Parts: sequence; C-alpha cells; structure tokens
Amino acid sequence: MTTEPFSPPTPSGTGAAAVLLALSLFFAPSVGAADRNPLELQKIMQELGEQMQLVAGAISREDWEAVADVAPKIAKHRAPSFTEKARIMAFLGGHAAEFRAADRLTHDAAMKMGGAAQRRDGEGVIQAYAEVQQACLACHQAHRKEFRTHFYGGAP
Ligand code: HEC
Repeated sequence: MTTEPFSPPTPSGTGAAAVLLALSLFFAPSVGAADRNPLELQKIMQELGEQMQLVAGAISREDWEAVADVAPKIAKHRAPSFTEKARIMAFLGGHAAEFRAADRLTHDAAMKMGGAAQRRDGEGVIQAYAEVQQACLACHQAHRKEFRTHFYGGAP
C-alpha cells in the first residue's frame, strides 16, 4: 500500500489537517468495501452456472459422455469455507433446513441427469436438466434476495 494518493498535501493546510484528511480517506472506503466482499458461495454459483451451460451445449451435440462427466460435479459442488458456512447458517437460522433441502434437490436431479447420460438416454437427460434448473430457480426465488440484502447491504 503506497501513500501516494494522499500527497502532496495542500499548500495551505496544516500538517495535522492533512494527516486527518489522509486518514479519513484511507479508512472510510476500506471499511465499506469489507462488507461487500462477495461470498465464496457466489463464485461456487458462477461455477454451477458455467457447468449448466456446458451441459446445455453437450446436449445439443448429443455428447452424453460430457454430460455424464459434468453432472456429478454439479451435484457435488464444493462448499464454502467452514467460517463462511457458519455465517450463512447463522443468517439462515430457522430456514437452514429448507436451504439444505433445496441443495439436496439440486444434487439428486443432477445425479439423475448423470445416470441418464450414462444410459445415453437423451430424453431422460433433458427431463433431468429441467429438474435441475427448477431446483436452482426455487432456491434463488426463496433466498437470493435476502442473501443480497444481508451480505451486500441491499445491492441489487
Ligand atoms: C440452496 C440454494 C441454492 C441452490 C440450490 C442454487 N443456488 Fe445459485 N445462488 C444461491 C444464492 C443464495 C445466490 C446469491 C449468492 C450471492 O450473491 O452471493 C445464488 C446465485 C447464483 C448465481 C449468480 C452468481 C453471481 O455472480 O451473482 C448463479 C449463476 C447461480 N446461483 C447458479 C446456480 C445454478 C446453475 C444452480 C443449480 C445447478 C444453483 N445456482 C442452485 C443459492 C442457490
């Protein structure tokens, strides 16, 4: 971290005033930014989104091997760190079980999609793909807005 943005001091200002100004410039933005750091969950979600796009592309090519490869990765997506999980669970409180159930539904539908891909059952893959999407959507509709308000201070 350099001190460049705070110099040169205004010619008219006293040393103390310049230092106070510099300190307030230094601390104010960093405190605000800490609240808005994206959750690891957000990155995990972006990965899920990319994997679902991969599946959609693979379905068009009837590349069932690719679907069979990606589906379990969607089902068994990584979890956030222990501390972030604790933050999320604390925030969810009484809704934690519901949130977990939504994750479970996604898991089951994605595993079903993988199974259908292994059988090269295109219809089955497409049906399960829709089920996965419905599971994603249901959780987003139930929780996304509250997450954004709570963890990012109401940013859209
Ligand atoms: C158990 C609940 C839950 C399930 C199931 C779920 N999501 Fe999410 N998703 C969230 C929450 C909460 C957010 C908001 C996270 C944030 O903004 O930090 C989110 C945000 C996202 C985002 C936006 C990320 C961004 O950059 O803002 C994408 C993309 C996404 N999810 C994809 C998916 C896909 C694809 C699935 C299904 C395979 C899925 N999600 C299933 C809870 C869920």
